[in-house]
Amino acid sequence: MCGIVGYIGNKEAYPVLIKGLQRLEYRGYDSAGIALINGGTNIYKVKGKVKDLEESVKNKDISGTIGIGHTRWATHGEPNDVNAHPHMSENGIFTVIHNGIIENYSRLKSKLIDRGYSFKSETDTEVLANLIEHIYKVGNISAEIAVRLALTKVVGAYGLLVTCVDEKDQIIAARKGSPLVIGVGQGEYFFASDATPIIEYTNSVIYLNDNDVAIVTKDSLSLKTISNEKLLPKVQKLDLDIGEIEKGGYDHFMLKEIFEQSKSINDTFRGRLAIDNKDLILGGIHQVMPKLIDAKRIIIIGCGTSWHAGLVGEYLFEDLAKLPTEVEYASEFRYRKPVIYKEDIVIAISQSGETADTLAAIKLAKEAGATVIGICNVVGSSIPRETDAGVYTHAGPEIGVASTKAFTAQVTVLTMMALLLGRKRNVLGDEKFLKLLNELSQVPDKIAEILEQSDDIKQVSKLYSDAPNFLYLGRGYLFPVALEGALKLKEISYIHAEGYPAAEMKHGPIALIDEKMPVVVIATKDKSYEKIVSNIQEVKARKGVVIAVVTKGDSVIRGMADYVLEVPDSHAVVSPLLTVVPLQLLSYYIAVLRDCNVDQPRNLAKSVTVE
Ligand code: M6R
Repeated sequence: MCGIVGYIGNKEAYPVLIKGLQRLEYRGYDSAGIALINGGTNIYKVKGKVKDLEESVKNKDISGTIGIGHTRWATHGEPNDVNAHPHMSENGIFTVIHNGIIENYSRLKSKLIDRGYSFKSETDTEVLANLIEHIYKVGNISAEIAVRLALTKVVGAYGLLVTCVDEKDQIIAARKGSPLVIGVGQGEYFFASDATPIIEYTNSVIYLNDNDVAIVTKDSLSLKTISNEKLLPKVQKLDLDIGEIEKGGYDHFMLKEIFEQSKSINDTFRGRLAIDNKDLILGGIHQVMPKLIDAKRIIIIGCGTSWHAGLVGEYLFEDLAKLPTEVEYASEFRYRKPVIYKEDIVIAISQSGETADTLAAIKLAKEAGATVIGICNVVGSSIPRETDAGVYTHAGPEIGVASTKAFTAQVTVLTMMALLLGRKRNVLGDEKFLKLLNELSQVPDKIAEILEQSDDIKQVSKLYSDAPNFLYLGRGYLFPVALEGALKLKEISYIHAEGYPAAEMKHGPIALIDEKMPVVVIATKDKSYEKIVSNIQEVKARKGVVIAVVTKGDSVIRGMADYVLEVPDSHAVVSPLLTVVPLQLLSYYIAVLRDCNVDQPRNLAKSVTVE
């Protein structure tokens, strides 16, 4: 979590930093700060958002062609001005911004206190700043060596930028576990946690790897490992359009991203779903296909919405490829001493590609010798680099903290994988394969049709925006959609919501139902339709309010439910991709009515890089 940004060159750094922080604010938004180097070092930092920082620097000296900036999601110490980054070392020699956690900070801090250091903040980052300074002073060495030596003493994760008053013309960048990208311009360099602050200046970037340290002046970049081995910087070209990271006329990124889903799914298909050739090509997993064909088990790992996509994957792999599949929260998997066989296929799903729990679970799976496949959205992020093979979702940047288009892209990839595997494992006949391929290809148009009803969904949201609780029910492929619908509502509107398999209602949650409890039932026509109709009746018999997501033209449920939201008729296999869309819109409109910060909900961050 936390976003870091930096600039060194001939321009004024301040506008680059502020714009960069705005783009990275999705990563954390409880405080923000900058350091500008102009002779001395001017640090400005405040509790609150980037706009509060901008407000606080009015009439202050914001000049300087070198600068670093930070937007924080608090780990050590509450969000306040003092704990905000940047942090300066005790004697003002080093200034540091940091994304990650220094796990052994407490031990390091005690040792530094013994050596006479005092601390203003409660952060682990100030410990790092003082550790670097201590090593620098004692060793009488260069800033770069001091940073590298300090990092050898650190346990934990970091993406960091460091400046030194004695070597004013450089920024030192280092990475372990938390992402860091350097943009290469003409006589200037840009630094950021991801490429979004960089893209408007240059599309040439260097992704730092774990244990890399970059020593950068405006005219030079030298890359080495922490242990001083020289590295050759690999400059890559970014395929990112500035329009993709702007709101484009929508009130919120989340709404834009919901409305982008026809396009983003088509982007996920591109070069893969060849409907004319009746074929599917997934180049990223081609080399591991023999292992996939022979696999006895798939284990899917992920967190939050990505875990929900994994649950849909479980239905898909078992249904279409007859492959036993387990889905695990990455955070639990890693601490559960799971039994992992060499023949297992572990699929890690992550929008950001940086989720710490998922990365740790991948490490465990690799140590056990399993083949690990990533399904990620952010190109060049850590998970694709840690996995044996993978498929990018290509949904484009997702900036709203609540995941929407990333979910549908993940489910699209999982559907393609399951179809391909079903065919390669000879358990899915040609006819069914082609029928489902065709169903999948129609999803973008069907989503466009659902989005046309957004005004109706807005009307329904007005009736229930004050409800304190919601229940979401679904069966089969639609049970994970119920979980996802509930998560969306919780995270952006702060309404308590729970998702359940509809049949489980009678085992407990039914006790909650009364006339004040809206129950969202996802009840499209599939093989459990009759059963879910019975569940709706059970809710109505207890005076619950039913908002049903139904197949277009369903008059039976229309006659029972209080409100219906229609989706076009489709095969059950693709129904999660359609039914989740009205639920995303419902949560969005409710959150807006409750005056919540939709794109940056409280306490959350887009990329959870701490355990
Ligand atoms: O980047 P990832 O997909 O690994 O993130 C996992 C979760 O943190 C994420 O899905 C989170 O639950 C979202 N806020 C859900 O909208």
